[in-house]
Amino acid sequence: MSIAAVPASPPQRTPARVRLRPTMQSDLDFVLTLEQDRENLPFITPWERMQHEASIRFPDFRHFIIEGGAGLDAAGFLILIGCRSPHHSLELKRMVVQHKGQGLGRAALRVAKKIAFDDLGGHRFWLDVKGLNSRARMLYASEGFVVEGCLRDAVRVSGGYDSLIVMGMLKPEFEARRAQGLEIFG
Ligand SMILES: CC(C)(COP(=O)(O)OP(=O)(O)OC[C@H]1O[C@@H](n2cnc3c(N)ncnc32)[C@H](O)[C@@H]1OP(=O)(O)O)[C@@H](O)C(=O)NCCC(=O)NCCS
Repeated sequence: MSIAAVPASPPQRTPARVRLRPTMQSDLDFVLTLEQDRENLPFITPWERMQHEASIRFPDFRHFIIEGGAGLDAAGFLILIGCRSPHHSLELKRMVVQHKGQGLGRAALRVAKKIAFDDLGGHRFWLDVKGLNSRARMLYASEGFVVEGCLRDAVRVSGGYDSLIVMGMLKPEFEARRAQGLEIFG
C-alpha cells in the first residue's frame, strides 16, 4: 500500500524587521493622522485624541508605536487591551501600518503575540475584524488566528452594515506554532 506524501509546509519568509516601543504623547499626531488616512478609515473606528491619551496611561492598555524599515522609523501603531485581565484574555484592539504590503503588519503581529503570551501572561489573544477587510483577515488567519464567530451587521459602513469577524488564538496554539518554527522574527 502506498503512503500519500505529506505536502511540505510552504517555506517561511523572514519577516520584516520591526520593533515595538511604548507610544508617547509626542507620537499622537502621527497616530491620529494614520487613523484619519482615507486608506485606513474604512477598516477602523478612529478614536479622539483623549482616548489615545487615556490608553497610553491606563494600566490595562498597552499602546505601541511600530518601528520598522532600515532606520526603524515610526511605521504604525497597535493597541492591546485586557493586559490586566483576570481571565488572561487580551485583545488586539487596533493595528495600523502606514506603508502596506511590505510585511510590517505580519512582523508587528508576531511581536504582539509574543508580548501577549510571553510577557503579559495571556491565555487567549483575540480581535475582531470587519468582513470587508480581506487583507487583515488573510493576515490574521495566516498567523494562526481561528475564526470564532461573526457579529452580523455589527458596524455601519458606507452603504449599509458590515459584520465583525471574531478571531482568536490560545496559548497552546501559539506554543504549537512556535514549536513548528512559525513564530520567527526578522
Ligand atoms: C492590516 C494591516 C495592519 C496589515 O499590515 P501590512 O503590513 O499591510 O501587511 P503585510 O504586508 O504584513 O501582509 C500580510 C498579509 O496580508 C495579505 N495581504 C496583503 N495585501 C493584501 C491585499 N491587498 N488583499 C488581500 N490580502 C492581502 C497577504 O496574505 C500578506 O501576506 P504575504 O504577503 O506574506 O502573503 C495594514 O494593511 C493596515 O494598516 N490596514 C489598514 C488598517 C487595518 O485594516 N487594520 C486592521 C484592523 S482589524
